[in-house]
Amino acid sequence: MPRDASPRSYLMCPPHHFRVTYSINPWMDPAKPVDLRLALAQWEVLRDRYTALGHTVRLLDPLPGLPDMVFAANGATVIDGRVLGARFAHPERHREAAAHLEWFRAHGYPDVREPTHVNEGEGDFAVTASCLLAGRGFRSSPLSHDEAQEFFGRPVIGLDLVDPRYYHLDTALCVLDDRADEIMYFPDAFSPGSRSVLARLFPDALIATETDAAALGLNAVSDGRHVLLPQAAAGLFAPLRDRGFEPIGMDLGELLKGGGAVKCCTQELRA
Ligand code: ARG
Repeated sequence: MPRDASPRSYLMCPPHHFRVTYSINPWMDPAKPVDLRLALAQWEVLRDRYTALGHTVRLLDPLPGLPDMVFAANGATVIDGRVLGARFAHPERHREAAAHLEWFRAHGYPDVREPTHVNEGEGDFAVTASCLLAGRGFRSSPLSHDEAQEFFGRPVIGLDLVDPRYYHLDTALCVLDDRADEIMYFPDAFSPGSRSVLARLFPDALIATETDAAALGLNAVSDGRHVLLPQAAAGLFAPLRDRGFEPIGMDLGELLKGGGAVKCCTQELRA
């Protein structure tokens, strides 16, 4: 049975200043050249796909000297129109947090909170119907989980990430249906205890293989029906279709050199 999509609003930041000049995750190799024009073209295809699907895309102005700003998912977490800003772990990205806070204030969001503890926005927070899944281990501080729980009034389930290739929760887990509790994830990215927690909470989850996870296939965005994901994660397409989803393969190969794909470029503005 095909699923129902629901209209979404996304915040994206064009990769005008995208570069790989430093390495803060194992995907980043400053020695590898980046084709900026291609990066922009690939990003535009993603943006246009969202609008063609009926979603709203709002834009954040990219700032020079912030090459990772294209990864807009990391800049905040928005639920019920309330905004928890980010605080980045690495100095190279610190200034992005203020740019996001400023955007929300300028766009009339009444409740915008600057966080006390390090959290990298939707990189480490994933919203399901019943809770907030929260990654820790590489970037977001465990203390940010309590902060998010208090701010959003939603139960937070902390999950320990153990493999540096999957340094953010959104590289290892994706919420497929946020009206139910349906997710896909790669178990090996998590500690044994966190794996048990996920198995207990999501017994029907779609389990990704190592190959699909390594193609950043879990760095995907779902509107409840369409699942936009890296096209190289070929093994995920059939299981998604079997569940009634419509997988849409995207090529963000240039942005992958920064360690990000579809989800990293997309922050959801939940009204
Ligand atoms: N180069 C960026 C970093 O390491 C990539 C961020 C990817 N974003 C994400 N939501 N996983 O911080």
